[in-house]
Amino acid sequence: MKIDVLLGLQWGDEGKGKVVDVLAPRYDIIARFQGGPNAGHTLIFNNKKYVLHLIPSGIFRPETINVIGNGVVLDPVIFSKEMEQINKTGIYLEERLYISEKTHLILPTHRTIDMASEKLKGKTKIGSTLKGIGPAYADKISRNGLRVGDINKPYFEKKYLELKKLHLKQLELFDLDFDIEKYEKEWFNGIETLKRFKFINSEKFFNDAMIEGKKILAEGAQGTLLDINSGTYPFVTSSTTTSAGVCTGLGVAPNKIGEIFGIFKAYTTRVGNGPFPTELINETGVKLRKIGHEFGATTGRERRCGWLDLTALKYAVQINGVTQLVMTKADVLCGFKNFKVATAYNINGNILDYMPYDIENEVKPEYKKFKAWNGTLDNITESKKFPIELKEYIKFIEKEVNVPITIISTGPDRTHIVMNNE
Ligand code: GDP
Ligand code: IMO
Ligand code: MG
Repeated sequence: MKIDVLLGLQWGDEGKGKVVDVLAPRYDIIARFQGGPNAGHTLIFNNKKYVLHLIPSGIFRPETINVIGNGVVLDPVIFSKEMEQINKTGIYLEERLYISEKTHLILPTHRTIDMASEKLKGKTKIGSTLKGIGPAYADKISRNGLRVGDINKPYFEKKYLELKKLHLKQLELFDLDFDIEKYEKEWFNGIETLKRFKFINSEKFFNDAMIEGKKILAEGAQGTLLDINSGTYPFVTSSTTTSAGVCTGLGVAPNKIGEIFGIFKAYTTRVGNGPFPTELINETGVKLRKIGHEFGATTGRERRCGWLDLTALKYAVQINGVTQLVMTKADVLCGFKNFKVATAYNINGNILDYMPYDIENEVKPEYKKFKAWNGTLDNITESKKFPIELKEYIKFIEKEVNVPITIISTGPDRTHIVMNNE
């Protein structure tokens, strides 16, 4: 059995959490392979809303085991809060959530360094979620990090204090007032909470599970355009958000990857700074934000909104090896008479159909206009009942990108999902 993957093709918030929750009953194991509490994955069912930051989105499906993989960076404080919320729903998380012993820990001082670094950058800041993601991955790469597997070792506190000391030295370079004492206390309580969970050797766990025929879905966080290598650097996150990250983030070989579900919104959003060629800095953008409720699930910030960018989508499909597309928020475009899609980039009169090194200033998207569909998609359960305009939009994207759109999400609830079998 191979590992399937579901990951974002844009700048995050494509609706990964919702669709993973929908697909979870088909799988035995759901695993996060990268990112950390910068993620905010929203699930809505039975009139209740849950936002998950670290815990995989299969957790509400009782048949599934959920795993935090070694490519993730984990903040014990945020983890504990999330755990308490889920435990309140009657789910005994400790039995169904495993954590890789190689998962790196986000320290209180990582958050402070994140803040200091953004403050220093001023206007050129990334727009980080300030959860300490960048500094935690930096320590991982520079071989200073603390891992979940260290927690039960006798040297844990000593190693923590050494790393904290190093961070405090670094922080002397910045002009920042900070107090980590309260957070540090919560952090150590969080470490005690973590000890209640099963720490696993993720390479062995996943490879054994595949031999046993278990079905596994890897859940991406962020999106392809936020990838550290292939995204709009430096306005990216610090992990490998693409399908390649599944191999390192879980400990499995590339030939063990099966279906790759690439998820995208029927338009585009972005939170934080960085280039966004199809951004609508006008009333239409405001309308998209309003109808699509485009506010960050982690920070509450307004999401920047714009039309679908096919150049970026094709790029994302290619570098991930996407085998099936999932389109979300099709319902949001009902609120418009017409909408547009960018089919290419025009750079000083040259038409490009691929992503150039720099998409900051000179890119002017070439647009194709579409007539929007009328009325609600709420009660549609079969793709053949979709309005003709939506069917045409789906066919157009499939033809351009050359990958089938197999799932369409028509609203935020678990039930708002249509399998495309046209
Ligand atoms: P994720 O980070 O990719 O899991 O996405 P987020 O949860 O951050 O953002 C997606 C937002 O869109 C959430 O508020 C979801 O409840 C909502 N959502 C997901 N799919 C749909 C959809 O098809 N239509 C509408 N209107 N909302 C959706
Ligand atoms: P999900 O999983 C949208 C953005 C931040 C910022 C940049 C770097 O919910 O799709 P970081 O905190 O990693 O240093 O921030 O990346 N970002 C996200 N944007 N969805 C996310 O996750 C994001 N995680 C990080 O806004 O621009
Ligand atoms: Mg999100």
